[in-house]
Amino acid sequence: MPARAKEVFQEVQQEKKYFLQLLDAVEDALFSMDHDGKVAWMNKAAERLAGESLRKFHGKPFAELPVDGHLKEIWKRFLGGERIRNLETCITPHPAVGKAVHGTGLPEAPPCAALISCFTLADGGRLQGGLLFVQDVSEVRRHARDRLQKDSVHALAGLTASLAHEIKNPLGAIDLHIQLLQRLLKNAHFPGHGEMDEMARVISEEIHRLDRIVNEFLTSVRPIRARRKPESLNPILEEVLRLMAPELEARKVRVVADLAPDLPLLLLDRDLIKQAVINLIKNAQAAMENTGRPGLLKVGTRHAGETVLLSVADNGEGLPAENLAKIFEPFFTTREMGTGLGLTIVHRIFTEHGGELVLQSEPGQGTDFRVEFPLHEAAPRLLASPPPDRTPRG
Ligand SMILES: Nc1ncnc2c1ncn2[C@@H]1O[C@H](COP(=O)(O)OP(=O)(O)O)[C@@H](O)[C@H]1O
Ligand SMILES: [Mg+2]
Repeated sequence: MPARAKEVFQEVQQEKKYFLQLLDAVEDALFSMDHDGKVAWMNKAAERLAGESLRKFHGKPFAELPVDGHLKEIWKRFLGGERIRNLETCITPHPAVGKAVHGTGLPEAPPCAALISCFTLADGGRLQGGLLFVQDVSEVRRHARDRLQKDSVHALAGLTASLAHEIKNPLGAIDLHIQLLQRLLKNAHFPGHGEMDEMARVISEEIHRLDRIVNEFLTSVRPIRARRKPESLNPILEEVLRLMAPELEARKVRVVADLAPDLPLLLLDRDLIKQAVINLIKNAQAAMENTGRPGLLKVGTRHAGETVLLSVADNGEGLPAENLAKIFEPFFTTREMGTGLGLTIVHRIFTEHGGELVLQSEPGQGTDFRVEFPLHEAAPRLLASPPPDRTPRG
């Protein structure tokens, strides 16, 4: 071959390689068929969809490929003259691969939504073959579905919050009138007066219970707007323990605070964290009530690698295994006066802070609630003031 022709040949080869690489990088599957309907070429995504390499299927009829039946059906319709453009269908990737069209793998939703288009390949009016194009839109569809679900949950939460709010006003009025009634009954002397007094007490108690449920419900459904600032967990915990000391002392609960002195700062909303920890301590207090042994509450913090750990542990009644999975569910309670919303709120608050709740409980022995706060999220912003010679990064 003359030198120039060789050069041109090499250039063409290079270009061909380049274009094939481009097509392989595309996440959508491309099948190209010759004028006989035999497979002429497939890109990498198409190979993944078929679960085999081009080498194995080159020159074989498309109908023999182990791809989803829908694809073969659509290709047949195209050969029959139907126009196929962005036709949406559900296709399942080859089981050997178990991956979606572009190989992201969708184990939780294997049949993936795909848009299919077919094109004729012609050169100067002469039919050369066809192109089958499969675009994976399962991710997009799933996002849209999640969005829809979130929106409706959000709308429902808003609606129930308004309803709860509407309950609060008449509840306040009923409470006021029961109090007036109780005052009248105190000075009244007639047969059955004692019984009525007792009834009024029960009504009042139940009203307060309802009021608590409504209040906790409102807290648990309202969007949390955390105003987070660099803070250490320790002073927040110390404040909570100071606040609750009289209550804990009255119940003869011994408190052990084991707070790490070297605790890095986290981005925290002080009031929300206080609320969550108070909820945890109240739960611990309730769990230690009837065990017949002195209560012991341990509150601790620790710096471990990339996390800061918070732990609230008690030696109370513990949790039976079947309840472990349920305790964060709204309205799950085992307590007569419980609302079952405390831990729902706790969970929301810690999640809002990027914290992860880990629970350890031994029936009859006690329970340890641990929260792991990630440090990496907070670290870059936690430099109180950057060194003077460093330009701030964007
Ligand atoms: N420290 C704990 N020890 C044992 N059980 C607990 C503890 N904390 C929570 N629980 C269980 O989880 C349930 C739900 O707690 P929570 O959401 O705070 O609602 P409530 O306190 O109103 O019952 C409680 O009723 C109890 O059964
Ligand atoms: Mg509670």
